[in-house]
Amino acid sequence: MADVIELRDVRVSFHERGTVVDAVRGVSLSVRKGEVFGIVGFSGAGKSTLVRTINLLERPTSGRVLIDGEDVTDVRGAGLRALRRRIGFVFQGFNLVGNLTVARNIQFALKAGGRDRKDWSRRTHDLLRLVGLDEKFDSYPSGLSGGQKQRVAIARALANDPEILLCDEATSALDLETTEEILGLLKRINRTLGITIVFITHQLDVAKRIFDHVAVMEHGVIVEQGDTFDVFSQPAHPTTQALVNRYLGISIPPQLVPSLPEGTVVELRYRGEGALEPLISEVARRFDVSINVLHARVEYFGSHAIGILIVVVDGPGNSLTAALDELRAHVLGYRELDRGDLARVGDMGDIDRGGRAGNGGRAGEGMDDVASTEEDES
Ligand SMILES: Nc1ncnc2c1ncn2[C@@H]1O[C@H](COP(=O)(O)OP(=O)(O)O)[C@@H](O)[C@H]1O
Ligand SMILES: [Mg+2]
Repeated sequence: MADVIELRDVRVSFHERGTVVDAVRGVSLSVRKGEVFGIVGFSGAGKSTLVRTINLLERPTSGRVLIDGEDVTDVRGAGLRALRRRIGFVFQGFNLVGNLTVARNIQFALKAGGRDRKDWSRRTHDLLRLVGLDEKFDSYPSGLSGGQKQRVAIARALANDPEILLCDEATSALDLETTEEILGLLKRINRTLGITIVFITHQLDVAKRIFDHVAVMEHGVIVEQGDTFDVFSQPAHPTTQALVNRYLGISIPPQLVPSLPEGTVVELRYRGEGALEPLISEVARRFDVSINVLHARVEYFGSHAIGILIVVVDGPGNSLTAALDELRAHVLGYRELDRGDLARVGDMGDIDRGGRAGNGGRAGEGMDDVASTEEDES
């Protein structure tokens, strides 16, 4: 399949009060037509800056941006407006205009896209039906829930029949149930309209649901990429491992930690839903160790499953070592857990909270985006 987006060694540096921030430091990637391509990473990694180079909301300091094989890096004026029509953008903060009705918000985009005014009404009804909100045609954004606002924003992003939809943390401001709904809608749009989606998020829970391919970003570079299941089931780079470990967490209630049986606490990961009980009882028997299962769960990445088992293994020194080696040899992922870490597990919720990347996000990000959209378009 053809690449609909290609970035070649893209770099973006910001100059601010005498200092230089290298937000993107040489990223090359290819997005295939019709896929959902995801970019994950901690806050400050450079995800938003990178995705904004695709529709040139951010001009690369160097490197090339190709859309459908055509180098668009230097387009301006009418060429830039035409490019923006081919690429819809959905933000975390919805960015609807508060004093315009839902229909007018969408028609704003139709006007920008140069659509014939006599088609506006029909087109707006079609778009609102697509996102399941036709009854809100004459409502104002203030009367809508977060999920409904995001649906309107999606309808607006689709107004000019884009071939690409960029979503920057499009579900990060929504609760779990609404996130689910919006992801379902995006997936449907992707499948039925064949629109390629580039989705950035710091939420692995979102990533695992809709990404076909994923790139992991850290400090302005892509540290790992590939098929979503492969990357998340066998993360190779420490950043990916950190993201996955934080997401999967270790759900042992911290108050139970002091009363855990003696021994080495081990997290085992395996592909598929297959039970590990036969392996465990065999290892326990052969090496004469005790193995207690503390926790078992199955996580789905798309349609693939990863099993996670947390066990405590105990026995005399030599046989304990041999038993652990045997377990390690038969699973996809093996990790010995520190009891101290277990006790701290309660603190690990959102993977964004660690602030690992140091820089943090920009304040009021959503509104920046509106400002720059309008600036650039005028
Ligand atoms: N307009 C800007 N001016 C200066 N620095 C910026 C600007 N936009 C982003 N940055 C900086 O670039 C880095 C990457 O930011 P961003 O792309 O927003 O990361 P992410 O979306 O992964 O959280 C951060 O250090 C951020 O502070
Ligand atoms: Mg961002």
